[in-house]
Amino acid sequence: MAKVYIKTYGCQMNERDSEQVARMLVERGHLITPHENEADVVLLNTCSVRDLAEQKALGKMGMLGALSRQRPVVYGFLGCMAQSRGESLFKEIPHLDLVVGTQKFHRVAEYVENALARKAGPRMDDVRFSIVDVEEEPDSQGSIRDHLLSERQVTAFVSIMQGCNMRCTFCIVPFTRGHERSRPIDQIVDEVKRLVDRGIREVTLLGQIVNLYGRHEFPKMDGRSPFVQLLEAVNAVDGLDRIRFTSPHPIGFRKDLVEAFRSLPKLVEHVHLPLQSGSDRILRAMHRTYTAEKYLKLVDEIRAITPEMAMTTDIIVGFPGETDEDFQSTKALVDRVGFDNAFVFKYSKRKDTPAAGMLDQVPDRIKEERNQELLALVNDWARRRNAGFIGREVEILCEGPSKTNPARLMGRTRGNKIVVFEEASHQIGQLLNIRITRASGYTLYGEPVLVNPAALPAFDKVTVRPLAKEHVSGCGTASCLGRDKASGDVGETRPYRREPTEIGNR
Ligand code: 5AD
Repeated sequence: MAKVYIKTYGCQMNERDSEQVARMLVERGHLITPHENEADVVLLNTCSVRDLAEQKALGKMGMLGALSRQRPVVYGFLGCMAQSRGESLFKEIPHLDLVVGTQKFHRVAEYVENALARKAGPRMDDVRFSIVDVEEEPDSQGSIRDHLLSERQVTAFVSIMQGCNMRCTFCIVPFTRGHERSRPIDQIVDEVKRLVDRGIREVTLLGQIVNLYGRHEFPKMDGRSPFVQLLEAVNAVDGLDRIRFTSPHPIGFRKDLVEAFRSLPKLVEHVHLPLQSGSDRILRAMHRTYTAEKYLKLVDEIRAITPEMAMTTDIIVGFPGETDEDFQSTKALVDRVGFDNAFVFKYSKRKDTPAAGMLDQVPDRIKEERNQELLALVNDWARRRNAGFIGREVEILCEGPSKTNPARLMGRTRGNKIVVFEEASHQIGQLLNIRITRASGYTLYGEPVLVNPAALPAFDKVTVRPLAKEHVSGCGTASCLGRDKASGDVGETRPYRREPTEIGNR
């Protein structure tokens, strides 16, 4: 039995891959430890999207080399950087044992045991034991399917596909994750059902370009894309309350998907829709194949169906050739949409990508200035959006203690806003209504709106009916989210306001 320390860099997909690795290790009798100092095995699941992420992982692995002065330790790089740098990593990190790519997570446990056994054997210092596996694996998309849930966990990620066929000129992902491959709908639905049986109430469907799910494998049906068919199938899973997905591409975000927000009650009112730039010239150079106008048209279509939709995005500043005018176009678009939040990235040259070879690279100083300027605008919008919730009532799914203050609980709204509130009773895993009293740019604070706290049943006995879509327009009434029965007021309805419609929307 080994103690394994796993650290994940980058996106939710990487977190999901790490969870699969952890689960397989635990199944084989190993222990996952959050303490690097006691580890017999160090696994860093890496991200290649920006150079900074790679440097962090390299620095960490270098530093953790000191652990092996006390005992034999197995060191492995997993995931994207392992895939893109392969064997060359052994030159940078002499104590490295394993390099396992993005299609081989299911082999990690076996490789770890192999390396542990070799280290426990007689020492042969002149022989290098190292394992590199960065080959392609048919059906690897189906291998990320098991979970390691903590007690009382109520949300989970579900990986529905791997790879990307888009060719954004800044992006390394097509090289690290391979081409698009999707899992069948019934496999995904089975996984969601198993999760629900174990207490999960909300799933986030993950894919590199999630809305293009299944386009090579499965036909459209009645004008509905495979992704929308999948959403419908997941929506039909009893006991599940909420469905999220990330990240879609504006291309392929068609009417059927926009409509799904109206027709599927469990699909939450949040879209993370990467913009990258607000300048058509830069979008063309990025090979994003939409214009600022098309992006805005999509935002308007989504908001026409779902006015309360929370919108977040990714933006790159300092892409090669970006002029001040281009940057101003990005700012204007951010202002026009009024995003709830955004990730802002300074362009980072990535090996073998077309943009890395472009001649008009933007100096670091300008990238930094634009980064700060855009962040200020994004944060300003985040504060304005959040301030609009003060005095309103929102539905949250209670996830557990707040990270910053374990004496309080936290949950998320359907729009993915974090809400922190005082604990009133055992509420983890419940949908409940909170009246917002205070807001920062990141967090909403409030008080539970309780009908009768004493009458609340224990957390795992509660069944909460999904909120019917016709009740979410903001003007209707809705029964009190499953608490009507608990409080004895069966059928009681009361005015119910969902998350507010967008504020300051021009
Ligand atoms: N430099 C900076 N940001 C990048 N992203 C992807 N590649 C790069 C790069 N080379 C950003 C994009 C993407 C997010 C996951 O990372 O905004 O949407």
